[in-house]
This record gives sequence, structure tokens and C-alpha cells, in this order.
Amino acid sequence: MNNYFGVDYYPEHWPKKRWETDIKLMQELGIDVVRMAEFSWSKLEPSEGNFNFGWLDEVIELLTEAGIKIILGTPTAAAPAWIINKNPEIQPIDYEGRRRHFGGRHHNCQSNLTYRNHIQRYVTAFAAHFGNHPNVIGWQIDNEFGNSHNELCYCSSCESFYREWLREKYGDIETLNQKWGTVFWSQDYSDFSHIQAPKLSAAGENPSAVLDWKRFCSDLIVDFHKFQSRILRAAAPGKFITHNLMGFYNKANYFDLSDDLEFVSHDQYPGDQHPGLKIYDRHGFKAHKIAAALDLMRGIKQKSFWMMEQQSNIPGWGVMARTPRPGEIGMWAMQCVAHGADTVVFFRWRTCTVGTEQYWHGILPHSGIPGRIYYELKETIGRAKPLMAEIQGTLPNARVAIVYSYDQMYAFEIQPHHPDLWYAEHVVKYYTAFFNRNVAVDFISDKMDFTKYDLVIAPLQYVMPSVLEEKYVDYVKNGGNLLLDMRAGVKDETNICRVDAPLPAGKLVELLGIEIHEYDCLRDTTVDVVWDGVKHKCEMWSDIITTKTAKALCSFDSEFYAGYPAVTLNSYGEGLAYYVGTQPGESFAAKIADELIRRHNLETFGSTPEAVEIVHRAGDDDYIFVINHTAETKHVDIPSDWKSYYQGQTDKIKPFGWDVYTRKRGV
Ligand code: GAL
Ligand code: ZN
Repeated sequence: MNNYFGVDYYPEHWPKKRWETDIKLMQELGIDVVRMAEFSWSKLEPSEGNFNFGWLDEVIELLTEAGIKIILGTPTAAAPAWIINKNPEIQPIDYEGRRRHFGGRHHNCQSNLTYRNHIQRYVTAFAAHFGNHPNVIGWQIDNEFGNSHNELCYCSSCESFYREWLREKYGDIETLNQKWGTVFWSQDYSDFSHIQAPKLSAAGENPSAVLDWKRFCSDLIVDFHKFQSRILRAAAPGKFITHNLMGFYNKANYFDLSDDLEFVSHDQYPGDQHPGLKIYDRHGFKAHKIAAALDLMRGIKQKSFWMMEQQSNIPGWGVMARTPRPGEIGMWAMQCVAHGADTVVFFRWRTCTVGTEQYWHGILPHSGIPGRIYYELKETIGRAKPLMAEIQGTLPNARVAIVYSYDQMYAFEIQPHHPDLWYAEHVVKYYTAFFNRNVAVDFISDKMDFTKYDLVIAPLQYVMPSVLEEKYVDYVKNGGNLLLDMRAGVKDETNICRVDAPLPAGKLVELLGIEIHEYDCLRDTTVDVVWDGVKHKCEMWSDIITTKTAKALCSFDSEFYAGYPAVTLNSYGEGLAYYVGTQPGESFAAKIADELIRRHNLETFGSTPEAVEIVHRAGDDDYIFVINHTAETKHVDIPSDWKSYYQGQTDKIKPFGWDVYTRKRGV
């Protein structure tokens, strides 16, 4: 497709006479593509049916003359004031039953049919007008679904769609009562019409009901997307549709959403907290967490992706983050590429002088005069483009997969067990151990094929539908190697405890060869394990495990369960099933990864200093990226069969630097 670098551009924020200068500066920077219009509804339809597309036509022509391609956003994340005034019921209702008003963005309910009619009208006209322009190559629908919805909409429209969703799922109300365990606290329903969205209650919530609500809210987002994509695809066949996701963010099931996308896009602001994980603290950025979010983005469709908003300068609304160090923005861009991004679009072109985001800085400062960031990026872009042309579409060759599951995340949001247990952070503990050893990892959904991996790690498999259980059993029976951990198999699909056997219940007892009769939530404490004579820390939880056919690989070393196994291994069919009965601390996770690497002969790109990573994309040759996330020059041992792509063999990687090597495939 030949798009390598782009910018998010808001020409409507600037006088027309500036547009040509902007576009010339973009050209000189090496920009191939811009994204525009995702927040410009009020400028494109100032009053109902009065479309004002002319100014955007002009910008599109100027960009086209400059050889820059265009992605247009549908502006449905910011309904104009005239719509809200005419139909105030479109404004969403929060968990506490309060209306959220106009004045920011995302002030809309996604199920509201009046709002959908406005969208139908706008998107149809928008697509008909711009969709056939050869230089408009694709669309982004809305913006960052789930963002700004601290709690999703609980309005009467959403409530009635929820009831329909439940009726379709359960058929009759008795089944729902059964599946939700409504016998508890006298919650039986006699009719679907009595069910409410789970708004703030007097005390406590039904975990089965809330899990369904979270699934419904995700389905509603997917439906809202499809509603718009149908219009766009009919009006403008042959253009791609993408959406800008937010890493480990929780509001929409990205696997479901991406079924309707040609490819996924990602937004990342390492200087802020965007990927849904705590990625910044006073010790600096967490390179492994940024990497994890990128690998998840690649994993969603098992395909290369775009970075649609890459931090380009200081982020900040009211409060600001630190200024990027020299080289840092370019290094982050190339980290995206290394993990599978084919195009990197920087947010934003120029720091705006108005509105909420006056301090969310762009490539150009307020003054519009190119400065340090512009020239740094110019160098990065010039250096990267030929390489990016060679690797478009390639992926790393990962032999390890980590299962990422929205159902599990939702179930732990409802009942975190330990106040500090956070699903994504737990999953990333395993990821980090492999990251530190430069082993390529794919994130996959539990619906994807396990059999192409030598090892599948499935953390916190708490909600266990029987089809998933069968899938794990079959994978191992046929030679796969699986790691499950604490709380596996506790609940069924509707979030009710399984009782057919001791934990891990159901078929997992035999698969793992263990029984768990007791456990310990590690409130305000940690416990130790000992493995090969070395002590490691465990956090959050201990399972008190009795081995049946499994053998213990290591044992707890504190508490009354000292001597009981902490990690077990069971041979089952042709494969191996591991169980980790706790949340491993850092050195413990590292030890687990080392054992797995050794036993399953997993490829590592060697050891590197902290916050220096080695990642590859496997094309005709392997393209191996070495990335230094630190402010110091680092030494990395470069094997003799790696050929330098750029400036000749060196083992020195500059501060915030990146380098690339190639290696013949199959070596
Ligand atoms: C993203 C969003 C952008 C902009 C940016 C900076 O979340 O997609 O529109 O708001 O953050 O705040
Ligand atoms: Zn609503």
C-alpha cells in the first residue's frame, strides 16, 4: 500500500492560508498519509442536512497534489450541539443514573435510534461525497471506542436492547434465572421486562448479571461499528475500514470488533497511560508494557497493523508529562514497526491553540515552526522508509502464544479476588519474562488455533465454558504444551462456580493431574517458593495443591502450606500441562520462562541489558531490530551471522537508538 508515515491533521483548527505551508512541511518530512475529520461534524454539517464539504474537498485536493493520501474518520464521537439540543435524550446515562452532558466528547449513547438516524444521514452523505475520491484510501469509524465512557450508557434505550440481547441468549426467563443464580437475595425475575441495567445498587451486584452486561456493552460497540461500516462499504467499495484501538483497554472485545476491520490500528502515548497498563512511573517508561500492547495489536488479527496515533511530543490535557528525550519519539515509532506496524501516524501534526488538548503537543509546536521533534523525525523517516518497504506485511515467527480473554478480564473486574489483582497486569507478567529473554510471543484469543504453537500460556482461565475446556484438553492430548494458572476452571460460562469435582474442576483435574481443596488470598503479604534451591516471591494468591498424576516442579516455602507444590507438570496424551498456583513475582516468572524455554527449546535472541529489546519480523530474511529504551549507550552481542542493515557491524546501540540486522531465514 506504500504508506509508511502519517500525521493526524486538523485543518479546521487553522486558517486556510496555513494549509499549503503545512502540506509542504509534511512533504519535506516524508509524510505519506494523513487522517482527518474524525471530530469535525459541526464544520461538515453545521445544521441538519446542510452539508458543508467544500473546505475538506480543498484540503483533500492540496494533499492529493502533494502525493499524500487520506483516511477520513466518521465524526460520531462528537455529536454537534444542534443534534444534542434537538434530541437531548442522546446524551448517555452513567452508572449512577446521571446524565453526561455536552461539552467534551463521547456525549452520546450508542444504541439510541435517533442518534443512529443522524449518523445514517451524515455517513451516507459523507461516504457518497468522499468515497469515490481515488486518494481517499480508507475510513476510520468513530474514535477509540470505549474511551471517555468511564461507565457505559445505562439509559432506557440501552436497557431495552439489553433485555432483547438476554432474551435471545436465554430464550425464556426461567433459564435466565437458573443461569444467573437469581435464587440468591430473592432476585428471581418473572419477565424480561423487569430486568434493569446493573446501575448503582444499594449493595452488591450479581456477578452473572454484570458479566452479561459487560458482554452486551461490548456487543453494542461492535454493532455500532457495523452499523456504520455497512453504509461505508456500500457507498465506497474497495476502501479499507480500520479503528484506532487502545492496547489493553477493556470496554470492547477487540477480537470481535476487528472481524469488521481490514486491519487494526492502535493509539499509543507511552508518556501517558494509554495501553491500559501502568506503563509509566518515576523510574521511567516500561518498555515491556509498550511492547506487550503492540504484540496484542498484532495478535488481534494475527496481522500487521497501523499505528494511528503515535505520541509525537509532550502529552497532556491539564497536566503534562515530561518532554520526550532526543531520539525517543523516533525510537518508539520504530518499536511499533518492529512489533508489526506497517504504517505509523503521528498525533498530531501541530499543537493546537484551542480546546481541551492545547497541551497535547504535536510534531510542530504552537508557533508552527519546525523544531527538534520535526528534525528528529525527518531523520527517522528517511532512514526507515526503505526498510519498511521491504517488510510490509511480515510478522514475527512466534512459537509461544499467550491467550488474552475479555471474558476473563470482565470476570476479574467484577470479582478481583485480591484488591490489587488486575487481569492485564497479571497476563503481562508472563509476557515480560519472555520479553526479557527476547523470545517472540503472540497474543491470541481463545477462539484461535492453538496447534501452531509449541507452547500456549493461558493465565487466569477463570470462566471456563465447556467448549474451551475441551479445546485445552484436545490441544494437550495431541501434543501441545499448555500452562494454566491460579483460578483456572473455577466458574462456568455464566459466572457460576463449578462443583462437579475439586478445583480446577471438570476435565481440568485430569488434564493437570492435581486437586486444589484450599487456597489463600495473600492480602497485604507475599509468600515464598523455592525452586532449585533459590527463593522467589509469589503475590496475590496461593493454591494449596495436591498432586495426583502431576509432579511438583517447585514448592511453597512459607506459611502452613510450605512444602506444597506451587508449580506442577503433568503428562497428558502426547503433551504437557503445567499449572502455576499463584501470581509469580518477577524472578519467579523469569524462572518459569527459563524452564519453558529450556524444555521446549524456544528460540531466544539472546540476553540484552535491561530495557534493550530484540524483536524480529520474518520476511524472506529475518529483520532483527535492536531497540534501546534507555538514555545510555548499550552494548549488545551481535552474532556473526547477523548482517547490519545500515552502517556496518556494531555492538553499540545509541541512547534511545535502534538498529536493524538481517539474517537468512531458517538459521
Ligand atoms: C486519543 C484520542 C485523540 C486525542 C488524543 C490526545 O485518545 O484518540 O483524539 O484525544 O488521545 O488526548
Ligand atoms: Zn444508552
